[in-house]
Amino acid sequence: MNNKIALYCRQGFEKECASEITDKASQKEIFGFARVKENSGYVLFECYEAGNADRLAKEIPFSELIFARQMIVVGDLLKDLPADDRITPVVAALKTQIERAGEVRVEVPDTNESKELLNFCRKFTVPLRNALRQEKILLAKENLKRPVIHVFFIAPGCCYTGYSYSTNNSTFYMGIPRLKFPSDAPSRSTLKLEEAFHVFIPHDEWEERLASGMKAVDLGACPGGWTYQLVKRSMMVHAVDNGPMAQSLMDTGQVRHHRLDGFKFQPLVNNITWLVCDMVEKPAKVAALMTEWLVQGWCREAIFNLKLPMKKRYEEVSHILNKMEIQLKENGINSRIQAKQLYHDREEVTVHVQRIWAAAPKRD
Ligand SMILES: C[S@@+](CC[C@H](N)C(=O)[O-])C[C@H]1O[C@@H](n2cnc3c(N)ncnc32)[C@H](O)[C@@H]1O
Repeated sequence: MNNKIALYCRQGFEKECASEITDKASQKEIFGFARVKENSGYVLFECYEAGNADRLAKEIPFSELIFARQMIVVGDLLKDLPADDRITPVVAALKTQIERAGEVRVEVPDTNESKELLNFCRKFTVPLRNALRQEKILLAKENLKRPVIHVFFIAPGCCYTGYSYSTNNSTFYMGIPRLKFPSDAPSRSTLKLEEAFHVFIPHDEWEERLASGMKAVDLGACPGGWTYQLVKRSMMVHAVDNGPMAQSLMDTGQVRHHRLDGFKFQPLVNNITWLVCDMVEKPAKVAALMTEWLVQGWCREAIFNLKLPMKKRYEEVSHILNKMEIQLKENGINSRIQAKQLYHDREEVTVHVQRIWAAAPKRD
């Protein structure tokens, strides 16, 4: 019981998610094996030693997992739940796993096949919540500091039960922030940058780090979905792209369009806070450009996409990020790097780098 970790991921990225958890668990000397069912939208990692799944859920910082949308400790699969009473066996299983949880989420993998199951989950949640409260497995009032109960249905009448730690999980249902497409945005990819803000920047820091009046540069900006997010936060944006920008953005007076190559563009001012970049290019080339901006001190924070290669996608991305970290350190830059395959990302991951401080330049 309770010796597995279930990780939710984008459908088709199970292998990457499995390679990543196996790698990151072994760095903590926790060993086990990952079960991968292609296109299932999740991965199970079974630990060899008792208690280790719980350790992983506490010790692997969730924010450091690139391909996982959620990380939960689960027990054995509950199969053939009786249609007339699914609650009793689910509550019985949870009773052995967790006490005084703060919240319950009934979830499914993010696949087309699971869509119908999701309707069932919605209906099942209220009676389950009541039953869990009666048994004191769940606190009477929602408590965001206590662990979260997850009931993860992978097929009708078939689920894993378990929990995540609220200090080390995704706060979103199914690990997916629900965002509404703003009808006046020039492209759907606007949601990618909005999601990145939600995932990478704690809400209580938005006022300070995404403040009005800040200066930003958007490389590969057209037609302007990412610029839209910056403009919406009252920033002044240098949009770099040979293509046309949406007139509605130009009309705001907050955007200056530079018809230039994003790899050659250099800022003329030194007070830029945000660099964002969505150019479709080789990931190593984009990462090198971002490193250059951060080392030169041309921006304080950067958000950019890395298009994934066809093979060894986890290995390639972690290699690129490691290299970036080393280069920033070698140049005296203390930074925080986070990367995630966001819900709105397809064959790519989104990276955020915050330049925390830079060592004073050496004098000769
Ligand atoms: C995926 S689109 C960007 C979409 C944009 N983020 C949005 O939300 O509307 C990629 C853009 O990068 C631009 N691009 C590609 N290579 C570039 C380069 N070397 N310099 C400037 N722009 C480039 C393309 O012209 C294209 O408009």
